[in-house]
Amino acid sequence: MLDLLITNASLPDGRTGMSVAVQNGRITEVAPGLSAPAAETVDAAGYLLSPPFCDPHFHMDACLSYGLPRVNESGTLLEGIAVWGELKPTLKAEAIIERALTYCDWAVAKGLLAIRSHVDTSDASLLAVDALLEVKKRVATYIDLQLVAFPQDGVLRTPGGVENLKRALDKGVDIVGGIPHFERTMAEGAASVKLLCEIAAERGKPVDMHCDETDDPMSRHIETLAFETQRLGLQGRVNGSHCTSMHSMDNYYVSKLLPLIAESGVSIVANPLINITLQGRHDTYPKRRGMTRVPELMAAGVNVAFGHDCAMDPWYGMGSGDMLEVAHMGLHVAQMTSQAGIQACFDAVTTRAAQVMHLQGYGLEPGCDASFLLLQARDAGEAIRLRANRLKVWRTGRLLASTAEVKTSLVVDGRPAQVSFLHPGIREP
Ligand code: FE2
Repeated sequence: MLDLLITNASLPDGRTGMSVAVQNGRITEVAPGLSAPAAETVDAAGYLLSPPFCDPHFHMDACLSYGLPRVNESGTLLEGIAVWGELKPTLKAEAIIERALTYCDWAVAKGLLAIRSHVDTSDASLLAVDALLEVKKRVATYIDLQLVAFPQDGVLRTPGGVENLKRALDKGVDIVGGIPHFERTMAEGAASVKLLCEIAAERGKPVDMHCDETDDPMSRHIETLAFETQRLGLQGRVNGSHCTSMHSMDNYYVSKLLPLIAESGVSIVANPLINITLQGRHDTYPKRRGMTRVPELMAAGVNVAFGHDCAMDPWYGMGSGDMLEVAHMGLHVAQMTSQAGIQACFDAVTTRAAQVMHLQGYGLEPGCDASFLLLQARDAGEAIRLRANRLKVWRTGRLLASTAEVKTSLVVDGRPAQVSFLHPGIREP
């Protein structure tokens, strides 16, 4: 007997009327119209069954700290770093843990079950590192939390920065981070990329670096990251985050750069909510959008995913752990409105993000973990359009969250009606 059988589900690849059978926490079969005895059978009623959302770029040590000790008035990256710098000396581990756990509850409710979070290693106390290592332990049964050692103030610019980062890795942080565009000079930025990639190579760790999060078209640390990835044989283990300078770069240079990135196997994570907010702040009009060249990178064969980056912190006062909101913004900013573009935006917060994170057992195939969610939408495009309600969220066959189907009753002009915002399916011209 099966543990769980989902029937009549639509899948992100467009298949409809599909059943998914689950036993011992794993998917055993995916086929149309299965019927078999099961401890629990769920009729998906044609709604979309999706693998869980994955966030490949987040800052959990800062999340939900909005307004502490003050709000970022200019809205720039640099004032955000300054506000965070004012908050850091007053941070308490317990408060970081409490905020992070609250965010993880939000994440589960939104079907977000894998998060790669950067954690600031600039402070010699490594208070935030200890706090997030504790969070990682506490959420392990419901969220895959990966941690990146992130020298927020610059690994070379901060006294003791290299040692602090290495100590964070010694404590169990998974991935080597960096922020070359915040080092004092371009040369120091490039040196930091080289040094950090060498540390990763020595320790057999992946790399995930904030790279060129600036509107400066001459910020070209992604070029160094791709080069060092190849030089050190790190192909498939390196991700460049943000890469917003690429938006402003000369087109000829980009035509050389994209094949280099593809050749190096470096993946790219854009953060649409944050990039559209932080970039272009020094422009008058026209204001640049600032997000990296998502469709062009994808066309060049680079794996590109979308991250949430921030939620209610010194850089961004909005956010709720909703990766469909991220995909929605990415779709608009990158103008990915074609059918293929819409699908790619959905993939950018599911399969493409899982690939960046090297998640094992991810997907809706036999043998994968029985981790998936049922959305109140019929396809990927509708899910993004509606930032669809998460009806049910399962992890390895266990139901973690459920939300009632949302329908609004109204009476207009004496006519009672129910509104769900689903595509009405009217075909006549
Ligand atoms: Fe970031």
